[in-house]
Amino acid sequence: MTQPPSAEQALAALNMPLLEAMMTQRAIRRVKPDPVDDAIVTKCIELALRAPTGSNGQNWEFIVVKDQRVKDQLGKRYRQAWSLYGGLGKRMASGDEAMQKILRAVQWQVDHFSEIPVLVVPCLRGGMRPPYLPSPFVAESSFFGSIYPSVQNLLLAARAMGLGASLITLPLWSVTSARKILGLPLTVTPVCVVPLGWPQGRYGPTTRKAVQEVIHVDSYGNRAWLP
Ligand SMILES: Cc1cc2nc3c(=O)[nH]c(=O)nc-3n(C[C@H](O)[C@H](O)[C@H](O)COP(=O)(O)O)c2cc1C
Repeated sequence: MTQPPSAEQALAALNMPLLEAMMTQRAIRRVKPDPVDDAIVTKCIELALRAPTGSNGQNWEFIVVKDQRVKDQLGKRYRQAWSLYGGLGKRMASGDEAMQKILRAVQWQVDHFSEIPVLVVPCLRGGMRPPYLPSPFVAESSFFGSIYPSVQNLLLAARAMGLGASLITLPLWSVTSARKILGLPLTVTPVCVVPLGWPQGRYGPTTRKAVQEVIHVDSYGNRAWLP
């Protein structure tokens, strides 16, 4: 088994070409229990902060979880959510080998959650419906849209450094429990969880739709750019 890189080596790897990072970033759920240096986690979050937020509010907070007790508690919530949602997923995925491969990886992550060295929980401060945004749709879209660009930056930074990462939400099935576990006030909402650790496997190309399949020109359904 290869040794994880030193913090210096990992940070130096951030000069990976953007194209390579974007083309190979993917959910890495099976990670080693080896520690991840705080400097690496800090750098991931520092780069996450280069992302846009609604009205440049920068109303983000990132909880870095390393404490065993907190990981165990979030892991218990993930297991509970997975026992409901995963059962449904398994039934729907029967006969679909690609999906079953994902489900096996999720099951691994659920079973080994407490051994994952670091969890980052991106959170947002403030309400989902600020009074200065009278459209509830724009308010909600702007609320959640103010954290996910930063999460993608974090994932790309992790990928460049060879650090395994995934974006997950199931441990937050009950936001009330998640707030209690993380000591969050009611004014702070946890949005997702990014488990980080050195990969057991390797990063590789992702399977995605062809670009022409999702482009509509000027109006939905106009596939003028289809070859
Ligand atoms: C909003 C959101 C929530 C997600 N929640 C979970 C989750 O709870 N558990 C999990 O294992 N993966 C979760 N994922 C990861 C997706 O399953 C993953 O991005 C998808 O399978 C593509 O994987 P790939 O990038 O490796 O191809 C989530 C992704 C998004 C965008």
